[in-house]
Amino acid sequence: MEKDRAQWSSHVSFIIATVGSAVGLGNIWRFPYIMGKNGGAVFLITYLLLIAFICVIPLCCELAIGKLFKTDTVNAFKLINPHFKWFGWLCILTVLLIPCFYFVVGGWILNYIWIFLAHHIPQSFGDYFTSYSAQIFMPCFLTLTFLIMTAIFPYRGVNNGIEKANNIMMPIFALMLIVLAIFAIMQPNAVKGLEFMFKPDFSQFNKSMILTALGQALFTLSIGMGALITYGSYMKKDTNIIKSAYTLIFFDTLIAVLAGVMIFPIVFSFGLEPAAGASLVFISLPEIFSKLPYPSLFGVIFFILLFFAAITSGISIMETSIASFIENFHISRKKSTIIVSIIIAFISIPATLSFGILKDFKILNRTFFDFLDYATSNILLPINTLIICLIAGWCIKSFYKQVTDNIWLQRIFNIVLKFIIPLILIPVLIYGL
Ligand code: PFF
Repeated sequence: MEKDRAQWSSHVSFIIATVGSAVGLGNIWRFPYIMGKNGGAVFLITYLLLIAFICVIPLCCELAIGKLFKTDTVNAFKLINPHFKWFGWLCILTVLLIPCFYFVVGGWILNYIWIFLAHHIPQSFGDYFTSYSAQIFMPCFLTLTFLIMTAIFPYRGVNNGIEKANNIMMPIFALMLIVLAIFAIMQPNAVKGLEFMFKPDFSQFNKSMILTALGQALFTLSIGMGALITYGSYMKKDTNIIKSAYTLIFFDTLIAVLAGVMIFPIVFSFGLEPAAGASLVFISLPEIFSKLPYPSLFGVIFFILLFFAAITSGISIMETSIASFIENFHISRKKSTIIVSIIIAFISIPATLSFGILKDFKILNRTFFDFLDYATSNILLPINTLIICLIAGWCIKSFYKQVTDNIWLQRIFNIVLKFIIPLILIPVLIYGL
């Protein structure tokens, strides 16, 4: 058991760690291709509105629950009401399923870093990616390697592992992103890419886009699975929740938009398809890097950037279940990290193989990998978020005081949490299902 609960050593470290959790594959791999498939600027506007006015509320809720109860996700809900313990476990189930596809992508990233470093650049990345991801040994080995690399940090503890990893990796990540974005906008047809991102074509708007934007917003902000309850529980008493939430939103959105600015000008300059889907980052972009004067340089920078983004998020994903296992099964941090890693390893292997020998194994018409992505982002996250808001709004007495001292803000929060969020989330969920 963790007797003395750890605390972030400073407010800046807390912000860097939560931004590290939020900024991940969701921003650099998922956001650009989802935006590409959903019409560019209109999607961006829908997404921004959802984030600024809707998602900020559950984000504050999670941080406030963490700050108030100073414990893991399962115990936090148990303390609110013993009947809610099951919901804590539902969050843990969600956060155990996410790495099972997330770390598969982490494994692909490691492979790409290697091929660019070793100058083993294939003729066609399309053929290469299809044949590589269909293999058995190497992708599984690298998924597990990524899992172990991530697990090392929570294994070493909050201050020595998680905080240090974020404090080092996030600034390097930001620097690399800025360099690549500047390079991208210097490309000949960059304006077209920027137009695609920022000039809305409202005929592209449709209802299913709202669910997709909501799923993406929740996923990218790490809402709806207790990650922010866990990180919030290491927060200092005097931390301002609303300010922290908007700081997190600001950086997460800035980085997602910068990722778009890095990717779309390149895509348009080289005449590629913006709606290429999940393969955008693993086929289209490397194809372009391989045609540049220093292919390995750009390739290596890009995939290391992606690696840092993925690992800092992966750490928070693992920490959420590790913290809950420690508190609920009364085991040490090290044991808990090992158990969580074994569970993730078992589920992520079939997900890795779903591009090859298991590609015909389908759940709800989706491969296992796609099913995990869909079930967590589009179903579990919105459901969990709704329940978190309802519990926070209706069942925690002093809840609003935790969020802010301002009476008017408390009132607005109260109405939005109790009525507006359910009114928005329930129809969106029903429509989505
Ligand atoms: N927010 C991360 C991303 O955008 O890649 C993903 C994530 C992190 C999901 C932490 C869940 C989590 F607990």
